[in-house]
Amino acid sequence: MPVPLSPEEAQQFHASDAAPAAYLDLLDAVSFRSAGAGLRLGVFEALADGPLPVEQLAAQTGTDPLGLRILLDALVGYGYLTRADGRYANSANTARWLLRATPDSFAPVLSFWSALLTGWWHDLETSIRSGAPTGDFYAWLEKQPEVLADFQTMLRRLADWLGAEIVELVPVPSDARSLLDVGGGHASYPVAFLTAHPQLRATVVDLAGALAQGARTTAAAGLTDRVTLRAGDLFEVDYGTGHDLVLLFNIVHGYQPAETLTLLRRAAAALRPGGRVALLEPLAEVPERPAGPGEAFVRMFSLNLFHTQGGRAYGHDELVGLLHEAGFTDVRQQVLTRSDTDHLMTAVRAG
Ligand SMILES: C[S@@+](CC[C@H](N)C(=O)[O-])C[C@H]1O[C@@H](n2cnc3c(N)ncnc32)[C@H](O)[C@@H]1O
Repeated sequence: MPVPLSPEEAQQFHASDAAPAAYLDLLDAVSFRSAGAGLRLGVFEALADGPLPVEQLAAQTGTDPLGLRILLDALVGYGYLTRADGRYANSANTARWLLRATPDSFAPVLSFWSALLTGWWHDLETSIRSGAPTGDFYAWLEKQPEVLADFQTMLRRLADWLGAEIVELVPVPSDARSLLDVGGGHASYPVAFLTAHPQLRATVVDLAGALAQGARTTAAAGLTDRVTLRAGDLFEVDYGTGHDLVLLFNIVHGYQPAETLTLLRRAAAALRPGGRVALLEPLAEVPERPAGPGEAFVRMFSLNLFHTQGGRAYGHDELVGLLHEAGFTDVRQQVLTRSDTDHLMTAVRAG
């Protein structure tokens, strides 16, 4: 949580050069790292039922009492915990957002980014120097089941939040029969489309680990018989042909333009003439809405994409150019009302 500042301190750090603003970044970085430790050590969950003294908390979390007390005091300083009468408790914000049982818990998001930033961003300079990612993001994920589960939960919850609006915005003709979701992993978007359009069937292609969540989502929705899950590499796996709609949601930002063009051409070949492709992307042009963290998120996201995948947040015109080059026309773009950063782009396969 941001370091609390008096108005005078805020003036010195933010609005003048009287104090080094980087000092706040240092403290915020430690706050973020400490919160990740609190999450991974199970501190917040252990305090879910009420305040505890450090000895009991150490016994419950299997930690060293002295080390834990020092961490807890840091978390008090950063606003994640409170301390009274020798007992520690979750702050109101932690109790609201960081317990995993809460349906819209922020814990999977914090946990995923904590693993990524502490585990991978140590060599950020290397990718900036070389122009290439320093590893294979999805191979890294597939080797870490807990991080993969957090990643999928994060994406699935976002899909549950955005799905209804997207289904309303993407035209699906009444004679449409077939949807292909490329890199659709958790399968929440096809489930939203199939629920709204009972005549549709879906194929989801993704890596095997990601499709495990897709199998759970489709089973929970009672749609197993209308969804085919196909494991394989996006650049090689058979997409089939004659689909009415192809979804490429949060996919192309992981790739350089040449690879994106390959994926768009594969999508075009999988569509019937007149069929539609839909992309969901945080574009480089952040919508000008009332100021919020959207701008900061997209810049961070793009940097992460470049470092871990060799991708980035595309500009609108660049993506339109690639869609045209891949054989699409009638490109349309909308910003979703439920997101600060997500743009929906649709285009039609030329006849
Ligand atoms: C950022 S996620 C997007 C998931 C989903 N489309 C959404 O918008 O929530 C990217 C997905 O692409 C899959 N993916 C990435 N590279 C892949 C590859 N080479 N072959 C197959 N799937 C891949 C990942 O497993 C993951 O499920």
